[in-house]
Amino acid sequence: MAKKILYINGDGVGPELMAHARSIVDKLIDVEWVEGEAGYETYKKRNTPLPGDTIASARACDAVLFCAVSTPPGIPDYKSAIISLRNELGLYANLRPFRSLPNVPPPAWACPAASPQSSSFLDFSIVRENSEGLYSGIEESDGERATALRVITRKACERIVKFAFDYAQLRPFDRVTLVHKANVMRKTDGLFLEAGRAVSKAYAPAIACEDALVDSVAMRLVKSPQDFQVIVTTNLFGDILSDEASALIGGLGVAPSANIGQKHALFEPVHGSAPDIAGKGIANPTGMLRSAAMMLAHLGHPKEAARLESAIIRAYEQNVKTRDVGGLSGTQEMVEAIRKNLS
Ligand code: NAI
Ligand code: MG
Repeated sequence: MAKKILYINGDGVGPELMAHARSIVDKLIDVEWVEGEAGYETYKKRNTPLPGDTIASARACDAVLFCAVSTPPGIPDYKSAIISLRNELGLYANLRPFRSLPNVPPPAWACPAASPQSSSFLDFSIVRENSEGLYSGIEESDGERATALRVITRKACERIVKFAFDYAQLRPFDRVTLVHKANVMRKTDGLFLEAGRAVSKAYAPAIACEDALVDSVAMRLVKSPQDFQVIVTTNLFGDILSDEASALIGGLGVAPSANIGQKHALFEPVHGSAPDIAGKGIANPTGMLRSAAMMLAHLGHPKEAARLESAIIRAYEQNVKTRDVGGLSGTQEMVEAIRKNLS
């Protein structure tokens, strides 16, 4: 039976990258596509960045494929469509795998020991808590003093750390790093650490649990990213560390992500709407297509997911890649190469 997938183009490079992703997915599995609107263009038309019919369709579909939305500064009470959608669908886990690509060496200052010849010399993942922390949206300001509430609950900590260990078991990886700042935020990150350590016991000794301070992890990610297998952390830290991590494998254009909940799942590239390059035909399709591959695996098509990931890797081996990763190709040419590599 055809899988029902809600696709949300979003803004900027969204429509062009989504069109390519859909055409590639259509080559691999049988899909009934449903379109959903969200983002700033939607807000201009319908006075809301996330209409109720998009949320309802997302709930009724087997998965959501999302590109990126613009969130304009300066509109009071405007809430990013993707953050609202993650909340509406209960997508508590944000999984971001970082795997090197052939012919995309890490920056010279990073990974001095790595061999750029090998296609998978970096392979680690960041699991980010997606539902609370500093992104709880509870903020106040009187114009002179502003505060944001950092909400951390035991339930959400246990849930996200369990997700990280289950994922480590599946991959398989044998180490999970709990990333925190419990020496300063003693109550909030203290709770994260306590809950995380308790969860880790059920996986010992097969999967080791270590913990590390977020500032030192930011440094170690640059200096020795091979130290890490699975990082699990709270919302804001995960957001920042994962953009940093993308620089090690070629930048924002190549990193995919999955947002997973109890009932629903949404797949999206890590990058934003990239308005500076929208419509120019030069956006890197890799993050979008790798997200589609993660969706295929989630929908029970691991072979097709692996075929797509291999076809992408092959394009990099053939040096068919976009400018952001040092290539000469446009989006269309790169997608064509990937399409050929599929057959
Ligand atoms: P961005 O990720 O859109 O762009 C940052 C830089 O990376 C830009 O120079 C852009 O050209 C480049 N880039 C991004 N994707 C690329 C791709 N596929 N190929 C080649 N280069 C690529 O982040 P920025 O500029 O901070 O935000 C732009 C808009 O996107 C904002 O309105 C922001 O709110 C929104 N945004 C949305 C996200 C989402 O929907 N999940 C995530 C991050 C930002
Ligand atoms: Mg981000």
